Amino acid sequence: MKNIQIAIDGPAGAGKSTVAKIAAEKLQYTYIDTGAMYRALTLKALRTSTDLDSEQAIADLLKDSTIELVPAENGQRVLLDGEDVSEEIRFPNISANVSKVAAHAAMRAIMVDLQHDMAARGGVVMDGRDIGTAVLPQAELKVFMSATVEERARRRFEDNNKRGIESSIEQLQQEIALRDKMDSEREASPLVQAEDAIFLDTTTLSIDEAADAILKLASERM
Ligand code: C5P
Repeated sequence: MKNIQIAIDGPAGAGKSTVAKIAAEKLQYTYIDTGAMYRALTLKALRTSTDLDSEQAIADLLKDSTIELVPAENGQRVLLDGEDVSEEIRFPNISANVSKVAAHAAMRAIMVDLQHDMAARGGVVMDGRDIGTAVLPQAELKVFMSATVEERARRRFEDNNKRGIESSIEQLQQEIALRDKMDSEREASPLVQAEDAIFLDTTTLSIDEAADAILKLASERM
């Protein structure tokens, strides 16, 4: 069996990261949550009052930062300049601003280089918005995961509850719809299904069912 690259893309709250994590664990592959990297940069931009609309300032900020994803017993941790920001990057103010930061092409070019370095070490499951189209266009398996916006908002709500973050389903639905719109309509590597990606609707699937579907597709390509 050969090691393969698995690219999982889709809109916010489709269950990509939960399912990608399970698949990576079962296959003993590296899991890379690219959304966490854009979130960490957004946190730094907010902390340093960097102009979120400035292409140059956002690219320079990334050049001055280190963003690492490190495996840990309690799941993957996200380190920003050595500080564990895994919890903070999930806060609503980050979700509300990340799509603005993620729209800048110059910064994305640097981010994609980082992601290539991380993926260079054998089998990998990477999730995001542009993995199948821009980051790993040669991936052996590309999956585009989605679900209705109502179901995605409901899942985010439950997730937030577990993390102790207060939110309302209506507000989450609006936030998710706006983020999808910004991610889909931007010029630089927009959220779009790659031509050779397999569409997986998870609206009525459990986490395990979605993970099994991906593992089956992966086994056919190894
Ligand atoms: O996956 P998650 O919802 O944490 O991603 C947060 C945001 O990061 C997305 O809404 C999008 O703006 C950006 N992102 C991106 N490209 C990726 C992954 C995430 O632009 N590959």
